[in-house]
Amino acid sequence: MKTLAIIGAQWGDEGKGKITDCLAQEADIIVRFQGGNNAGHTIQIGDDIFKLHLLPSGILRQGKTAVIGNGVVIDPEGLMDEIRLVKESGRNLDGLRISDRAHIVLNYHRKLDGAEERYRGDKSVGTTKRGIGPCYQDKIARYGFRVCDLLEEDTLREKVPPILAMKKDHLGLVGESCQCTDEMLIDRLLGWGEALREYICDVSVLINDEIAAGKKVLFEGAQGVMLDIDHGTYPFVTSSNTVGGAICTGAGIGPKLIDEIIGCLKAYTTRVGEGPMPTELHGELGNYIMKKGGEFGTTTGRGRRCGWLDLVVAKHAVRIGGINSWAITKLDVLNGMETIRVCTHYELNGERIDYFPASLKKLEQVEPVYVDLPGWETWDGRSEELAAQGYDALPRELRDYVKFIEKETGLPADIISIGKRRTETIDRRKKWWA
Ligand code: IMP
Repeated sequence: MKTLAIIGAQWGDEGKGKITDCLAQEADIIVRFQGGNNAGHTIQIGDDIFKLHLLPSGILRQGKTAVIGNGVVIDPEGLMDEIRLVKESGRNLDGLRISDRAHIVLNYHRKLDGAEERYRGDKSVGTTKRGIGPCYQDKIARYGFRVCDLLEEDTLREKVPPILAMKKDHLGLVGESCQCTDEMLIDRLLGWGEALREYICDVSVLINDEIAAGKKVLFEGAQGVMLDIDHGTYPFVTSSNTVGGAICTGAGIGPKLIDEIIGCLKAYTTRVGEGPMPTELHGELGNYIMKKGGEFGTTTGRGRRCGWLDLVVAKHAVRIGGINSWAITKLDVLNGMETIRVCTHYELNGERIDYFPASLKKLEQVEPVYVDLPGWETWDGRSEELAAQGYDALPRELRDYVKFIEKETGLPADIISIGKRRTETIDRRKKWWA
């Protein structure tokens, strides 16, 4: 039995999709356990580019089981669009399984997401406006619709009238409205149930049985540790837990069943949306990295804020996320830079701090302290060739940069990614499932 997980160690967009896709090659089951279609994975296979938001990246590997766990919130229209897209590429979705306990994102959630952002004014979170926060709010408040409800007309006839009435009042209070009648919503929910019926099951039973049968299970995180609702830069976070512990609640397995957690760490820092980011680069260099790294949101198209690698963040992610090893991505974006800076700790009011403060006020005041490392000559256009030659073919300065990260964080960098393609990845460990 072996289970592996991959989670983002920064503010999301670390390139988890590609790493998941590479590890999925040998996995039997790939499981998403949190988030919704706020997430975005871009995966390039040959010349085909897929932008997935809800489907686990592993779905592109045929013959695998790809699971959407109960901790995910599902926008059924978005999901059906993605199913269509994958089918149109000639791939089948026979392996797709959707938890009967996952919650459903509805139109009123999206409206409320927009309204809440408006009320926050210049303190808006910069959400994806996909209704993720309001859907998780309803889940916790106990008036969400779950996937299992979509298959039971009687249940919907009981649940829809009071919930829709309450939601309409709620919308009215924030200057929004909803023309949907009870019958319209029931019809829509039942229609989604029919369309998705073949994929729906109790995924906790499925995953636990498969683990017991010795299958290889890969858990695929969305967003990153710094966007975790409890441990991230609250309130500039997403509405789910993004750490390794969320696998247990979001997929229905016990903590002892997670063997290893790989943290996906981009060679520099990015964040989309508002909120603290101590190593942010304003001006030319930040823009250069944004353009060179193609740092534009998969979900919203927004330009991402860019900055130097922050090891305070990385160490926070190791501690909170339960990370055992690194997949370091996008090192090629730093090609040709004379000097590369790495933040090792912060200073706050003249004192050294090695942890990530909870208080936004303190975060505004922290001064990142950097170590400058020499950059390396560019190899642009030759990533595939270099990856084929192996790790030692990479420039010495790059390997020193990686060694520095390993030493500071105490974890091995087992996967090195130097481009978008699967073939631009160096797996230094190879034996993941042994
Ligand atoms: P929400 O998840 O749409 O509520 O957005 C909350 C915050 O999380 C915003 O700053 C979003 O930009 C950010 N966010 C949500 N999903 C992702 C992601 O997949 N990558 C990066 N940022 C994300």
